Formats: sequence, structure tokens, C-alpha cells
Amino acid sequence: MREYHIASIPGDGIGPEVISAGLEVLDAVMARSGEFKLAIEHYDWGSARYRKTGEFIPAGGLEQLKQSDAIYFGAVGAADIPDHISLWGLRLPICQGFDQYANIRPARILPGVTSPLRNVEAGQLDWLIVRENSEGEYAGHGGRAHRGMLEEVATETAIFTRRGVERIMRFAFEQARSRPRKHLTVVTKSNAQRYGLVLWDEVAALVARDFPDVTWDKELVDAMTTRMVRSPASIDTVVATNLHADILSDLAAALAGSLGIAPTGNVDPERRFPSMFEPIHGSAFDLIGKGIANPVASFWTASLMLEHLGEPHAAALLMRAIEQVCGEGVVTPDLGGKATTKEVVRAVCEAIGNA
Ligand SMILES: NC(=O)c1ccc[n+]([C@@H]2O[C@H](COP(=O)([O-])OP(=O)(O)OC[C@H]3O[C@@H](n4cnc5c(N)ncnc54)[C@H](O)[C@@H]3O)[C@@H](O)[C@H]2O)c1
Repeated sequence: MREYHIASIPGDGIGPEVISAGLEVLDAVMARSGEFKLAIEHYDWGSARYRKTGEFIPAGGLEQLKQSDAIYFGAVGAADIPDHISLWGLRLPICQGFDQYANIRPARILPGVTSPLRNVEAGQLDWLIVRENSEGEYAGHGGRAHRGMLEEVATETAIFTRRGVERIMRFAFEQARSRPRKHLTVVTKSNAQRYGLVLWDEVAALVARDFPDVTWDKELVDAMTTRMVRSPASIDTVVATNLHADILSDLAAALAGSLGIAPTGNVDPERRFPSMFEPIHGSAFDLIGKGIANPVASFWTASLMLEHLGEPHAAALLMRAIEQVCGEGVVTPDLGGKATTKEVVRAVCEAIGNA
């Protein structure tokens, strides 16, 4: 039987609730398939460990994590710890340390889910957002001087390398090519950001030559927000910088129904390191312990993980079960339903068992 080693990092907030829900559902998929096994290794990395030890990741932790085939991540962030400490303490060292440079963020309207956009139905909003995940605005370059004084200065420098832009552009064109519509929109802000993002435009035009079967267009990020709302069917695959795609994908999630359903994969396409799969959402302080966090994002991201591991049938089985259960209206309050997290888990496990 095929066996995969999965590192589970539930993290903070509702992370543990949705990741344990996801692991239950993955158990059901394993049982139904009978063809592979997931060996789960549990990691307690998160804010509680930071409070105790001053570290999110213990010494040698990344070396240990590197042994796994994939990482299943919840969320990081706690009310009493500044967000930049938690993000740079846990999630970004994994994404950057394992060169997971391609962040994929699918968004579509699942059966039974209503988009807040008037008259927009399932097939009219079906997007894949590709986010550059290793450099750009989150490269970590900058600093502060003269702290607290009138002269204080802070810089936050976005870094764009030809290599970094070209590899994400190639990845995005390949993703676009694999989808039925074969269309890519390259998002920048190259009217105002005339160095790094003009480089993006130039590299896009060069790479496009290698993909004559993919049509493509360009959009400035501000115009893109309007297009997503007013003309969702004109969009298929999108590629954008680390910051721009971060923002656009939250909008995409909301337009597709809820942040609670949106999945993501932080992928190393060359497979030198394990890739990491997580819901887009964060710790959701307002929902902790209430038992109503939507687990669909953690299920969908588990399906992306199965696909990445080379188990496309299991990935599709899980996706069909999610769609069936949403279609039957067993959904949490963020989608207008009354179901609890546990009830959604039970319904999805049943759908898998009956498939
Ligand atoms: N990848 C990550 O680990 C990640 C991502 C975003 C935010 N964060 C952290 O999480 C904390 C809270 O951040 P935030 O409030 O900006 O974003 P958030 O994603 O935690 O929550 C935003 C809103 O979405 C709702 N929501 C989120 N997940 C949901 C789910 N599964 N079901 C139903 N509703 C859901 C919340 O109730 C809230 O109203 C901060 O510390 C932030 O830094 C972490």
C-alpha cells in the first residue's frame, strides 16, 4: 500500500478545530479508497509554544519537517502576540525555507452556495489565483531607524528577481494550460510601480511566447477588483505578486461565498521540499471554541494535498463529497446554514462512505 508522511500543524485559533475535522475526513477517504495510507505526525508549533519557549519552531524543526511528504497546516495568530511575530515565526519560515514559491488559490461557487454577487451562478465564477510566494512585498527586506523619534524612518522593500518572476509566470501559464479555458490574466500595478512590475509585464510577454495555446491579458490590480465583481466570467487563471494575490484571493473567497471555504497550497513545483496545504483563513478569534467554524476550506485543501501526493481519485472523491454535502444544505452559519463543524464532518464522512 502506498504510504505518505503528513506533518500536521494545527497552530492557533480555529486551526486545531478545522484540522482535526480535516484529519477525520481524510481517515474516511483512506478507508473508502483502501489504496493508500497517511501516516500523520503531529506538531505542536504555534503561539502556546512561543509563549513557553520564545520559539514557534524549535531548533532543528525545519530539518525534521523536511522529511514529510506534505504539510497540513491550520492557522497562526493569537490576540496577545503581534501578527508580524507569529507570521514570520511560523508560516513564512516554512514557505520561504522550503521555497514553496507557487501559492495556488482556487475559488469557485460550490453547489448550494450563493455568491453575494447578484445573478452569478456556479460556472460563472471558477478561478485559479496563482500567488508568487517567495519574494515581492513579503521578501522581508526593510528596516526601521530612529525608533520613536520624530525622524523615525521605516522601509519595506519589495524584491522582484527575473528568476523569481519567470518561474511563477511559467507555473501560471502551465496551470492556465491545464484548465479548459486556457486563459491567464497577469495582474500588476506597473503604471505606478515602474521597476519591479514593469519587469513582471516584460517577463509575462516573453514567457507567453512558449504558450501559444494559452490566451492572456493584463490588468492593473485596482481594475482587477472591479472586474472580479462586475465580470467574473471573464476571468479564469490569474497570476499576481505576493501582496496583490493575497488581497485578491480574500476577495475571491468572499465572492465565492465565504472565507471559510477557501483552500490554498504552498507548492514547491520542483518537489525538492514538502509542500504545505492550508485554509486561506486565519485564527478567526470570533469563532474559537464555538464549534461552528466552517471546515470546508480544510477539506478542500486536503483534496489539493491528495492531488499533489499523486492520489487524484481520492482527491476527486473528497471533492465530490464536499459538493454533495454543500448541495444538501449541510453548511455552517457563514454560508447561511445552521450546521456545526461536527455535523458537516459527519455528513462528509457519510458521503465518502456511501460513494
Ligand atoms: N495563514 C494564516 O495562518 C493566517 C491567515 C490570515 C490571518 N491570520 C491570523 O489570524 C488572526 C485573525 O486574522 P483575521 O481576523 O484578519 O482573519 P481570519 O481569517 O482569521 O478571520 C476573518 C473573518 O473570517 C471569518 N472566518 C475565517 N475562517 C472562517 C471559517 N473557517 N468559518 C467561518 N468563518 C470564518 C472570521 O470569523 C472573521 O470574521 C490574526 O492573528 C492573523 O494574523 C493567519
